Amino acid sequence: MTYIPSFASRIAVAVIASFMGASVALASGAAVPPRNDWSFAGPFGKFDETQLQRGFKVFHEVCSNCHSMNKLAFRTLAQEGGPGFSEEQVRALAATYKVKDGPNDNGDYFERAARPADFWPSPFANKQAAAAANGGAAPPDFSVIAKARTYERGFPWFVFDIFTQFQEQGVDYISALLHGYEEAPAGFTVPDGKYYNHYFPGNVIAMPPPLLDGQVSYEKGADGKPQAPETVVQYGKDVAAFLMWVAEPHLEKRKEIAFKVLVFLLVFAGLLYFTKKKIWSDVAGHA
Ligand code: HEC
Repeated sequence: MTYIPSFASRIAVAVIASFMGASVALASGAAVPPRNDWSFAGPFGKFDETQLQRGFKVFHEVCSNCHSMNKLAFRTLAQEGGPGFSEEQVRALAATYKVKDGPNDNGDYFERAARPADFWPSPFANKQAAAAANGGAAPPDFSVIAKARTYERGFPWFVFDIFTQFQEQGVDYISALLHGYEEAPAGFTVPDGKYYNHYFPGNVIAMPPPLLDGQVSYEKGADGKPQAPETVVQYGKDVAAFLMWVAEPHLEKRKEIAFKVLVFLLVFAGLLYFTKKKIWSDVAGHA
């Protein structure tokens, strides 16, 4: 006889598995990142254009010195729903970078100024060079990092998350990581060229603290003050939001379509219910 697990026992297995998941996450020594309010969270979430512009500035001035972002073409920055750059701004930005092209008629490869259709060039020639310049750990590519990093929220959170549609683990983690540098606790030795980070799994990270308060200047508002505080915490949030957009530029469209589909399914379920009632109305006991 084959054993078919009952619904209750499947639930029990899921609960136990999630506890095990939680203990694995804790065993890796990383703290759970605090939750933030994101403009793009929830079923009607939208990116905040000014935040994406600030996040891009942080990426451009700081992170892009070490991290690549191979899947982002310059022209994407002018797409609707993004940071809202004009085509002219994108062309000027691209022209400040050099890319390799060729071969030309003589069979030689050559360098030329980048164009909007080019992808964001890597700061290092290859992965080995990137690792050699960073204490043996290559800085990961940024194209999908906001979606690629996550952590176990464990029971009962993962049940609530289904209803609240919480999907912002990646951005919460990235922003926490950026302000998570601190003194190692007594008795913990950090190897040379590595740093202690509260939120990095294992706590020892090869990335030096990349941000300082006041390092990136934000555009001034009408009152002459910067649009947002020029602090590590704010830089971290803004650049994480920007990375979320890079990883999923069509997030708004996806949420919009999903909402329409759900409304359609609800209406359709209602129609099916009444159709069923009508069809079975002649059969005794099936009204
Ligand atoms: C000096 C070079 C350098 C700069 C500048 C830099 N990083 Fe990094 N970053 C690294 C290296 C090296 C690693 C790999 C760390 C490791 O694996 O130990 C890394 C890893 C990361 C990770 C992945 C952590 C993980 O979970 O694997 C994130 C996210 C990140 N950096 C974000 C940023 C952001 C955002 C900025 C800009 C504010 C930035 N970095 C600036 C060198 C840099």
